[in-house]
Amino acid sequence: MGIQYDAKHQVFHLCNDHISYLLAVLRNGQLGQLYFGSRLPAAGEMPKGHDYTYLFEGVKRATSSYVYEGDFTFSLEHVRQEYPAYGTTDYRMPAFEIRQEDGSRITDFVYASHEIMDGKPKLQGLPATYAERADEAQTLAITLRDEKIDAELVLSYTIFRDFDAIARHACFQNNGSADLDITRAMSLSIDLPDADYEMLQLSGWWARERHLVTRPLAPGIQSVGSLRGHSGHVHNPLLILKRPHTDESQGEAIGFSLVYSGNFLAQAEVDTMDVTRVSMGIHPHAFDWCLARGERFQTPEAVMVYAAGGLNAMSQTFHALYRTRLARGTWRDKVRPILINNWEATYFDFDEDKLLKIARTAHDVGVELFVLDDGWFGARCSDTSGLGDWQPNTDRLPNGIKGLSEKIHALGMKFGLWVELEMANKDSDLYRAHPDWILHVDGRRESHGRNQYVLDFSRKEVVDCIHDSIAKVLRASSVDYIKWDMNRSITECGSKGFPAKRQGEIFHRYILGVYDLYERLRTEFPHILFESCASGGGRFDPGMLYYAPQAWTSDDTDAVERLAIQYGTSYAYPIVSMGSHVSAVPNHQVFRETSLKMRGDVAYFGTFGYELDLGTLSAEELAEVRGQIAFMKEHRELIQHGTFYRLKSPFAGNVTAWMVVSADKKEALVGCYKVLNSTCSPFQRLRLQGLDARADYAVKIDGRMDFGDYTGAELMRAGLVTSDFSAGEAPREEGKHCTDYWSRLYVLKAKG
Ligand code: GLA
Repeated sequence: MGIQYDAKHQVFHLCNDHISYLLAVLRNGQLGQLYFGSRLPAAGEMPKGHDYTYLFEGVKRATSSYVYEGDFTFSLEHVRQEYPAYGTTDYRMPAFEIRQEDGSRITDFVYASHEIMDGKPKLQGLPATYAERADEAQTLAITLRDEKIDAELVLSYTIFRDFDAIARHACFQNNGSADLDITRAMSLSIDLPDADYEMLQLSGWWARERHLVTRPLAPGIQSVGSLRGHSGHVHNPLLILKRPHTDESQGEAIGFSLVYSGNFLAQAEVDTMDVTRVSMGIHPHAFDWCLARGERFQTPEAVMVYAAGGLNAMSQTFHALYRTRLARGTWRDKVRPILINNWEATYFDFDEDKLLKIARTAHDVGVELFVLDDGWFGARCSDTSGLGDWQPNTDRLPNGIKGLSEKIHALGMKFGLWVELEMANKDSDLYRAHPDWILHVDGRRESHGRNQYVLDFSRKEVVDCIHDSIAKVLRASSVDYIKWDMNRSITECGSKGFPAKRQGEIFHRYILGVYDLYERLRTEFPHILFESCASGGGRFDPGMLYYAPQAWTSDDTDAVERLAIQYGTSYAYPIVSMGSHVSAVPNHQVFRETSLKMRGDVAYFGTFGYELDLGTLSAEELAEVRGQIAFMKEHRELIQHGTFYRLKSPFAGNVTAWMVVSADKKEALVGCYKVLNSTCSPFQRLRLQGLDARADYAVKIDGRMDFGDYTGAELMRAGLVTSDFSAGEAPREEGKHCTDYWSRLYVLKAKG
């Protein structure tokens, strides 16, 4: 791994054992993009005198505009660039734009210097991937300067030794005497040499988050984004390009992921010469940042993953990078406690006795963490009041959170708490004391969502106040886990804390305030396991994973719906980051009745827990729950830290399958799910992946029933025979008939 600089040709080459990223200083001092893909020979590995400048193709094109008089070869429109500007012969969407004192938006940032350093510097106040040791990564920081406005632009690139990924961000510095208005500042822009790609995105809505959508790239712009103030349920800050023939196990794929939780834009622009420009960053709409003299503006980080071996390989890089070098803290490398959450068991209707009863039953069957959800504070008896008042409601909890947490601990369980710190109901003491603390614009309507309003986290005094009130509760009691919710999108985004010319900064400043509060709380309470949440998965993004190593994947806990949601989420996010619970039937979101077995078999592939009153189950069901918990405890190390493979897509048919394999390939677990039953089905085989071809595996259905011994080679090439996984054939399971909503787990253990 390393970064090489060919000074003669001004070419930078970032490479590790598998990938290369090449960029060069162009004739006009701007940066050109030469290559991103499988590794190319580094200096010393190439024939003498060979260099990569031929990858820059300057050609004459009719009707173009050119930079130099008398020269018809250098048009920025036809140059593949690295961080392009608009207005100087390139007509595509730029990476950035700066409005200047004279009203002009024309800039000319040219190469000034560069620095190559070991490791990876931290981003101030923003989430980012990191290196734990200097030899894990190298960083290139290129400084470009615009003399006229006396401003600097620093583009930083980090290549990792152990991950086929490049992390990037940009930073603007104003050294001049006039204010600069940044109206667009992408985290990444890259021009790829062709357009023979399909674009994959994760889209949806509340209760159907991150469904996979695939479309061929076409000339023009195709994009996803959010203008909601949070990354949102609608689109995820992820864009994948894959070759049309690429599938899960072979072919090229490039993943672009934004480490950010606010408004974003992710787009692919295909120009008329079939160059694909991908850009990703803070959404430029409603963004206007005033950079005063001496100030810096740093974009969020974007991560680009290249995989030559299919979509699973791309996802595995994201999983490993985000699990070990984005997530942080005590919980990063630990398996997660099995929890019970009281929300769907009680909603707002609870008192201490009821909670303790739920906790006792849960503890009896092996649950490790009791989570008290919404309704424990202020006058919060419904979603119309109390939000913002972070004092325990002593009518419901006479002994406060302190007393309840002690009782839960006395049972031998950990204790967790729900909060929604960014919001207030108007019916709250907080709002009555500080009506100007919500985001709003004077003289305009204040729109609500779920009867609540968004606190102005761009203002430090607001964040300080919320910090103090929740820190007080946490200091006084013994809380091991926090579910940090955020239940509405932002409207009328105005702040009383900033002058008129800075109102275009509020969306971003809001998110910086959220990050600041997270950072303060996780620093003061390093033992707490944070789970982020936003009406389910409305802020399931890499930015959040830096502060909270797990996130509530969706409010939709129906096992069938969760197949699609969890499968989609797995394109970028590690299994251990996905909050997944077994809930009651009929399901509270879709009213479907799935078997307890299938609900468990789906929820295992995540953090695992329960979202129902176990006291309402029959003795037989409780015994099954006990078995599920024992199963998860036995296999969670494999599930949460193993290598995950998607095998069969819920977006393609009736059967979904996925698997995890341990790092040493000695153990694997395959989940196979059939939504609707059929009879006399065609023969079925499931080709497994990632096993040791020469190892002998003992296969057990659900870890109990022998299914035979097979070599890894057979299981990966001939496949696991799953034809009995349908009605009409003799079901192997102890007298149970195969029916709708059917699932099976195959546990593989290498022998010897
Ligand atoms: C959101 C969350 C739920 C639950 C409720 C409580 O909808 O996604 O899990 O915590 O809020 O009000």
